Amino acid sequence: MNFQNLLFSVEQGLATITINRPDKLNALNALTVQEIGKAVAAANADSSVKVIIITGAGEKSFVAGADISEFEGLSEQQAMTLAANGQEVFKSIEDSPKPVIAAVNGFALGGGCELAMACHLRIASDNSRFGQPEVKLGLIPAYGGTQRMTRLIGRTKSLELMITTDMINAQQALELGLLNYVVAQAELMNKCKEIAAKIMAQAPLAVAGVIACVNDYANGKDGFQSEVRVFGYCFTTEDNKEGVAAFKEKRAPAFKGK
Ligand code: COA
Repeated sequence: MNFQNLLFSVEQGLATITINRPDKLNALNALTVQEIGKAVAAANADSSVKVIIITGAGEKSFVAGADISEFEGLSEQQAMTLAANGQEVFKSIEDSPKPVIAAVNGFALGGGCELAMACHLRIASDNSRFGQPEVKLGLIPAYGGTQRMTRLIGRTKSLELMITTDMINAQQALELGLLNYVVAQAELMNKCKEIAAKIMAQAPLAVAGVIACVNDYANGKDGFQSEVRVFGYCFTTEDNKEGVAAFKEKRAPAFKGK
């Protein structure tokens, strides 16, 4: 699949989406956001893909925010459309039944931090920096950042970060619960692949079921009811029978995602 602002590859069950505007620190212009949505949809439609990684090109920046050069002269209505489009794409990441890992390789600011927060897991290089600098531009985070950051790290610190625009380093982000792991930049993709391999060994429909139930919690729905429904559904899958049989036979399961 060919994109103007992304690199997209599928290898051994892993789809890698690389935002590729390094001279603009991978800032998200409207086309890039649209392409991310298409790439995630393509990865979800490819039955060989089990896990998706999103990263940025180069060693300096994951994504340094929405592309500020596209903000000039927007009307209220155009700005609302921009936010709604961004939210739709980021929600498609959050709702992806295949786990999406953000491999944060540098600045994750504004829409970049929001993109990382829409992913299911976040692994960052030790040079990464996180922040929501929008209010400095007279704006607010509007690709879901006010909601997802609050859910992830709580009101106390998310409010502070969003209204002071303070940037935090990877270690601070880890301590706040924004990240799963921090590793040296040279180790970033290896660490992501190691986590992806663990996920790929599990039953894909059950993995998707966990994501759906956790998302229901995050979206204020009755996740307990979802658990009952998804648990029941699991018993209709071949993978559940295979998992139980493999346990009894003391062998590794061979899941088919059916
Ligand atoms: N939108 C558009 N272009 C951006 C951008 C953004 N969010 N972030 C960086 N760029 C561009 C710069 O304009 C510059 O382009 P140029 O070489 O054509 O002038 C290029 O990327 C390199 O950025 P530069 O600012 O020179 O790098 P730096 O190392 O001095 O600073 C940052 C890095 C991340 C601190 C700084 O680029 C920055 O503050 N970016 C904006 C962050 C932001 O406010 N994001 C939220 C947007 S809502």
